[in-house]
Amino acid sequence: MDQKDKKLIAAKASLEFIPDGAILGVGTGSTVNELIDLLPSVRDKIEAVVSSSAATTARLQGLGFEVSMLNSVGDVDVYIDGADEANKHLQLIKGGGGALTREKILAGASRKFVCIIDDSKQVGMLGAFPLPIEVIPMAQSFVARKMVKMRGQPIWRENFVTDNGNHILDIHNLQISNPLEMETRINQIPGVVTVGLFAHRPADVLIVASDTGIRTIGN
Ligand code: 5RP
Repeated sequence: MDQKDKKLIAAKASLEFIPDGAILGVGTGSTVNELIDLLPSVRDKIEAVVSSSAATTARLQGLGFEVSMLNSVGDVDVYIDGADEANKHLQLIKGGGGALTREKILAGASRKFVCIIDDSKQVGMLGAFPLPIEVIPMAQSFVARKMVKMRGQPIWRENFVTDNGNHILDIHNLQISNPLEMETRINQIPGVVTVGLFAHRPADVLIVASDTGIRTIGN
């Protein structure tokens, strides 16, 4: 099974977590794009949909979905999104697509966070994937220096501006042995908007697609 097929079966498996009358949050990325393409098949169950990025909004609208503002729907029943890495505690690295801030808001606002990945994203220790940090542009060099002190190697994501008008630093070579502490420390650096470490609000359910099929962890 190739990676695209794995993404599709993970997306398909997540549909069963959408309750009737759902306020549904939709993440960003190629795995979620597989989900979006399946959403018309469960249109009747969806009361409202909120989106984590301009790209996802455009794709949803292309399929005829009206996208609501989070402020107008209250809490999200279920938020479905991909990830760049996941550990056994369902803590994640996210933000490869640069949508980490809105993704973290939707994860935080959701009653259930369902993460869909293929098995290449499962890791023992987070950090092999460069950790994205969204920063206020004027703080970029300052935050980068702070991350060097934390033994990371920051690389500015060139020619990329987030949906919020900010920059991304990708931090290479971090071995994140304590994700909770690392998330807290990075959040405290002035100028950091969001770190793509989802440890304080991990996924509730992790759906992993592999050659042998689907494995669902959590509930
Ligand atoms: C976007 C994300 C994505 O969920 C993450 O990058 C995984 O993407 P893909 O499904 O394309 O591998 O966090 O900001």
